[in-house]
Amino acid sequence: MAIVNFQIWRGDSAGGKYESYSTEVAEGMVVLDAVHQIQATEANDLAVRWNCKAGKCGSCSAEINGMPKLMCMTRLSDLPVDKPVTIQPMKAFPHIKDLVTDVSWNFRVKKKIKKFKPRPPDAADGTWRMFQEDIDRVQEFRKCIECFLCQDVCHVLREHHLHDEFIGPRFFVYTAALEMHPLDMEDRREDLKKTEGIGFCNITKCCTNVCPEEIKITDNAIIPLKERVADRFYDPLKRIFRMFSGKK
Ligand code: SF4
Ligand code: SF4
Ligand code: FES
Repeated sequence: MAIVNFQIWRGDSAGGKYESYSTEVAEGMVVLDAVHQIQATEANDLAVRWNCKAGKCGSCSAEINGMPKLMCMTRLSDLPVDKPVTIQPMKAFPHIKDLVTDVSWNFRVKKKIKKFKPRPPDAADGTWRMFQEDIDRVQEFRKCIECFLCQDVCHVLREHHLHDEFIGPRFFVYTAALEMHPLDMEDRREDLKKTEGIGFCNITKCCTNVCPEEIKITDNAIIPLKERVADRFYDPLKRIFRMFSGKK
């Protein structure tokens, strides 16, 4: 057992400040355990969102010592003990109270992305044929837990607040899962370029670095989507091929 000091952001959309707390921590405890202990003993009005405590619901996202992380997957033993642990809400979304932000913008963005549109079945029994390697390629994207830590760290949203023009890395992952699906026939490249802001991404990889599911957001989703957009709009041979073949 050891006493650890915390600085936790308290306040609401009108403003706030760090408050100091201390609590006893035992081996194996994660940041969310400490927050719950503080809530139980010192600050029972402290607002914190969580659900699974297993790194799978994506609810407990916050900034711990300035880094976007899941509170339930951050062990206190991995943090420096010579100074207080700071915990603040995600910065890229409107603040509600204490550690809770309003992430509903993300769900509105998701609704606008063109849905899965399967090609007709390959066989008379209504089934399709697919290559395993094509399935494997999109499988990674399906690990996303919608924690929105990648959205939080992306400077296009965090610093430039381009929420109306840029869908963010989470939704490039979602779009990549649809675009690269071996059965999908929809074409989302015009939206990516014109309304979803893929051109704002300068491939800094900050999103990849914070993803708790270790999805290679930049290399496996964003760069291939950028290449598809470039093929669609800037490759004259492919444009002529599409005109005559009718393929995307
Ligand atoms: S790589 Fe692109 S999407 Fe990811 S954080 Fe950087 S600018 Fe944002
Ligand atoms: S891509 Fe990774 S960081 Fe982004 S929302 Fe999904 S799990 Fe979270
Ligand atoms: S509580 Fe579910 S991811 Fe942390």
